[in-house]
Amino acid sequence: MDERVWREAAERFGTPLYVYGLEAVRERAAELRAALPASAGLLYSLKANPLPAVAAEVRAAGCRAEVSSAGELRAALEAGFAADGILYTGPGKSAAEIAGALECGVALFSCESATELRRLGRVAGAAGRRAGALLRLQPVGGPAAGLSMADGRQFGFDPADAVRACAAVPDAVSVRGCHVYLGSQISGVEALLEGFASAKRTVEHVCREAGLVPEIVDLGGGFPWPYATPGTGGGFQGLAEGLGELLGHWEFEGPAPEVWFESGRRPIAEAGSLLTTVVDVKVRPDGATTVVVDAGVNVLGGMTGLGRVLRPSTGFENLSAGTSRHDPDGPGGPEAAGTGGRGGPVLTAAVVGPLCTPLDRLAVRAEIADPRVGDLLRVPNVGAYGPTASLSAFLSRPPAVEAVYDGDRLVGAWQLAAGHVAAG
Ligand SMILES: Cc1ncc(COP(=O)(O)O)c(C=O)c1O
Repeated sequence: MDERVWREAAERFGTPLYVYGLEAVRERAAELRAALPASAGLLYSLKANPLPAVAAEVRAAGCRAEVSSAGELRAALEAGFAADGILYTGPGKSAAEIAGALECGVALFSCESATELRRLGRVAGAAGRRAGALLRLQPVGGPAAGLSMADGRQFGFDPADAVRACAAVPDAVSVRGCHVYLGSQISGVEALLEGFASAKRTVEHVCREAGLVPEIVDLGGGFPWPYATPGTGGGFQGLAEGLGELLGHWEFEGPAPEVWFESGRRPIAEAGSLLTTVVDVKVRPDGATTVVVDAGVNVLGGMTGLGRVLRPSTGFENLSAGTSRHDPDGPGGPEAAGTGGRGGPVLTAAVVGPLCTPLDRLAVRAEIADPRVGDLLRVPNVGAYGPTASLSAFLSRPPAVEAVYDGDRLVGAWQLAAGHVAAG
């Protein structure tokens, strides 16, 4: 995305501001699609970014939707995903939520326990409908994931419980297959293939034991991309060949199932930047520098959610370095700050947000080119898990505006806001 677009967007909407470029979504979604077998389905996980203008671009690249709440379902429908192609997932679906999803036309639910399977049957039966279910299975084995979902206490059926559940499927439910999700951020093609192979073994075991002939097997994802730091997620060399080999044979009776994969971050992470303004630069007598910016963990909270508060990991590009700047709060009154070249003094500084908590740290040691009050900084690779992973209600600051561009054309800008729900 052209740097000029970032500057103009910040001028128009102020900061903190998320800016998404649809051309990057198209490129990354197409790259992932091309790395998977042509016959495989690919689901876009709206938890990464439910903004309909962004989600619609992933849909156009040939994805279905995976949603985990009524809000994500609304966003998916608004983005043009067909309700009957949506997979509804998550470990705590209420009866009301299931009823609402069925009402919207959702036909397939990833079920996490026997209780949930019975609840799905009860709600679907009461609505006079049949619901499809994938049994979410706890993965057995597999590689390390940046964020593991293999904890059997939280997600999915233990394989033996899944086999038992297959013998007591409610009348209004058809078990159409299985779902395994090992975790997010699995680095490298070899580790991804190892994860899919272990997920497949778990599915084969349950299907053999239960006599289940699955129509659909969702093997999960884990396709990586850096979060809020520069870089890329690496290529997919060898993935298509490896998957071709892996999926060529199944260890259960019956025809080969349709195979699905899931991804939230991969198609969209690169497309998003967070623009934030330097509000203060504090230098202690020993020279230690702290840069205060107007985006805190209320706007970029993913590090908190991932237990990464104190990791010096957020990367900042100073879009103002090398330009002429003016600080209205400079010592002795307004002063011109002069220019510092892009290659000028690079400072190592802590970067904190504006919230009254020591946890509001974006970086412990970031290298920033010549930071001055009023500078516009850009955090790269935050198209996924930006607003959705943030502590947005903390300190009651307004949510960041999210602006979507196609090239240099503004598609639209949005700001989440909670409305008044009832009068007292
Ligand atoms: C079941 C499931 N599918 C897909 C995803 C998306 O993961 P990622 O954004 O890393 O692709 C998640 C993430 O939490 C998940 O829990």
